[in-house]
Amino acid sequence: MDLDHAVGEVARSHPLDPWARVAEAVQALELTDLRPSPTVNVLFGQLVDAALALPACHPQIARHGPRVRHLCARGEGYLETWWAHRVIADPETLPSFPYLTQYEQLVRGEWTALTGALGRRPRHVALVGSGPLPLTAVWWRRLAPDVQVTCIDRDPGAVGLGRRVAWSVAGRAGAPAFVHAEAGEVDSSAFDAVVLAALVGDAAGKTAAVDALASRMRDDGVLAVRSVPPDGRRLLYPRVRPEDLPSSVRLVAEWTPPPEVINSVLLLAPRAAGPDRR
Ligand SMILES: C[S@@+](CC[C@H](N)C(=O)[O-])C[C@H]1O[C@@H](n2cnc3c(N)ncnc32)[C@H](O)[C@@H]1O
Repeated sequence: MDLDHAVGEVARSHPLDPWARVAEAVQALELTDLRPSPTVNVLFGQLVDAALALPACHPQIARHGPRVRHLCARGEGYLETWWAHRVIADPETLPSFPYLTQYEQLVRGEWTALTGALGRRPRHVALVGSGPLPLTAVWWRRLAPDVQVTCIDRDPGAVGLGRRVAWSVAGRAGAPAFVHAEAGEVDSSAFDAVVLAALVGDAAGKTAAVDALASRMRDDGVLAVRSVPPDGRRLLYPRVRPEDLPSSVRLVAEWTPPPEVINSVLLLAPRAAGPDRR
């Protein structure tokens, strides 16, 4: 199928049926290499819009979720890498990043929830799964320039690009540290808060990472795990349900995003902390 034709089809043929729009966007995306282009960008935009419009319990979400999430994760990796090169070459282009507003809303909401769960401002925060375009760390620097930040990723390419993005946007002075490591091997005792990015593993992989991080966390530390609400957004990212959390953590709070933001955040404390430690 001709791609421009497919894009037009998505927009025209099913203006009201969100699942039909999801299915057509997915089929058209699977004909591409998922790298950013006008066509791929439009199709991902349509996929996200249609997913947000799905009824919460739509039966196709469970059936096709793994296929769609795999597509989205690959697309996000390419998108972040493409934008990382662009921002390194010219930091003034960052405001044109297509999901910047949603990112800012997520990071602000998450920061308020995290400091609330911690009961104070953190001194040293880690972002695990920071990726090639560590926008979370960039926003933290603006929100709390006094807080020390460490970005961690298991992909050495993402670590290298992420570091250059941070230097390009905000200079080397006070820039985050960048560390190459697998989530499950991070020494979380070095931080008073750790944020686990949405794409660190599928739901099961993320639960295993939570367990490993919690086993080394300080008693008064907080682990923030990005998830999605139980609606159409679980088509796009793995959902960590509070009831699936390992027994090594307890749920302190949950941040629910506004409708246009995709990720929610679970705020967790290591179980050893006990209910009356904070
Ligand atoms: C697309 S990126 C950026 C983060 C994304 N914006 C988010 O909120 O999830 C996801 C990153 O997570 C990293 N990642 C995935 N699984 C990981 C793991 N087990 N340990 C460390 N990093 C991981 C990948 O290498 C990738 O760079």
